[in-house]
Amino acid sequence: MADQSKRWILMTTAQTPTNIAVIKYWGKRDESLILPINDSISVTLDPDHLCTTTTVAVSPSFDRDRMWLNKKEISLSSDRYQRCLREIRSRANEVEDEKKGIKITKKDWENLHVHIDSYNNFPTAAGLASSAAGLACFVFALARLMNVKEDLGKLSAIARQGSGSACRSLYGGFVKWNMGKNDDGSDSIAVQLADEKHWDDLVIVIAVVSSQQKETSSTAGMRECVETSKLIQYRAKEVVPKQVADMEAAIKYHDFPSFARLACSDSNQFHALCLDTSPPIFYMNDTSHRIIGCIEKWNRAEGSPQVAYTFDAGPNAVLIARNRKVAALLLQRLLFHFPPHPDTDLDSYVTGDKSILQDAGLKDITDVEALPPPPGIKDNIPALKYMGDVSYFICTRPGRGPVILGDESLALLSPETGLPK
Ligand code: ADE
Repeated sequence: MADQSKRWILMTTAQTPTNIAVIKYWGKRDESLILPINDSISVTLDPDHLCTTTTVAVSPSFDRDRMWLNKKEISLSSDRYQRCLREIRSRANEVEDEKKGIKITKKDWENLHVHIDSYNNFPTAAGLASSAAGLACFVFALARLMNVKEDLGKLSAIARQGSGSACRSLYGGFVKWNMGKNDDGSDSIAVQLADEKHWDDLVIVIAVVSSQQKETSSTAGMRECVETSKLIQYRAKEVVPKQVADMEAAIKYHDFPSFARLACSDSNQFHALCLDTSPPIFYMNDTSHRIIGCIEKWNRAEGSPQVAYTFDAGPNAVLIARNRKVAALLLQRLLFHFPPHPDTDLDSYVTGDKSILQDAGLKDITDVEALPPPPGIKDNIPALKYMGDVSYFICTRPGRGPVILGDESLALLSPETGLPK
C-alpha cells in the first residue's frame, strides 16, 4: 500500500471539447445504460472557445469523494457520476511515481477517495452541451489518474453512461456514435470519422439566444417523446440510417451542399418529433425561427447552400459556414438583424475566434450600425431588427479531442491541500 503516513497527493488535469450533433441523438432504448435508438454524428468544437477543464486528485488524506463544478461544491450522488466512477474504478491499475515516492496498487484504489474540480469556459446553463464536455472530461481525467488501459472507444462507452452525447466528445473532428445492438451497451460506442484537419474550411457561429423560458430537459423531453410520438420509431428505423450514411459520405468528400441539406433537415426533423410529443415540446423560439428563415432565404438565393443550421434541445442556433468568406458575410447578416445594444462592447458580443469579425470589417459598434441591409431586402420596406434577442455570438471551428494538461500550474486543485485553488 502507498505509505499512508505521507500525505501525498497525485493529480491529473484534462481538457475536453464539447460537440454539436449534425445527425441528432433523440430517444433511448435503455434509460439506465443510456442506449440510443439511432446512430448520431457530431462535429467537435474547438476547445479554445468551448471546453471543460477538470483536475482529479487522489490522496490517502481524502475521507470521501468530492466534486466542485465552476467553483461550487456539488453532490456526486447522482447516478450519472456514480456509474462513471464505478466503471473507471473497477478498471484502475497500479500507479507508481518514483520521484514522489508513491506507489498505488490495483487493490488500493478500492479504498482511496478522489477530489474532482471542473470548470467550463462557457456558460453552463446556456444550452451549450456542457454535460457532454463535462462527463467526457470526468471520465478521461479519472481514467488517466487511475492508469486505466482501455482505448478511447471503451472510455466513450463509460462516458455515455454519464451523459449520452458525452461519448462523442472523446474525439476531435467528426464523430459517429454507433447505437450498437448488445443489451449490455458494450458496442454502443463513439468512433472518429475524420480528424479536425480533414475539413478545416468550416467556420461555426453559435447564436446564444436570449430565453427566459424554462426548458424541458433533454432527458425528460426524450423520454416523453419515446412514450408518446408516433413518428419517432419511424425516424429511427427508416430515416436515420440513410441520413447517417449520406452524412458520412458528405464529410468524407467535403460535400458542403449535401452536408448542409442533411444537417438542416435532420435538425428540423428532430424538432418535428418534439412537436409530435404529447404534450408538445417547443425548444426553438421566434428568434430561432427567424434565423432559420434568414439562412433558408440566403441559401436559396445563392442556388446552393452556404450555411447549415442545427438546433439542439434549446433555442440557440449553431450555424456552420462553408468557409471563412461566407462566415464573414454570415456575421454581417446576423449583426444587421440582431445588433447589440449601443452600450455593448462588440468584443463581448462576438466572442471566440475574433478574426472572423476582422474579416467582416467590423471593429466596433459604429461599424455594426453602418452595416447595409443584406441583399434581398427591398429598399422601400424597412429592414427588421431584433435588438436584444441574441445574448451573444461565439465564433469557432471544428476542434481537437481531449488532452492531458501536463503543466501543473494549470491544475484547478491545490497540490498542497487537494482543495480548489
Ligand atoms: N455538467 C455540466 N458541466 C459539467 C462539468 N464540467 N463536469 C461535470 N458535469 C457537468
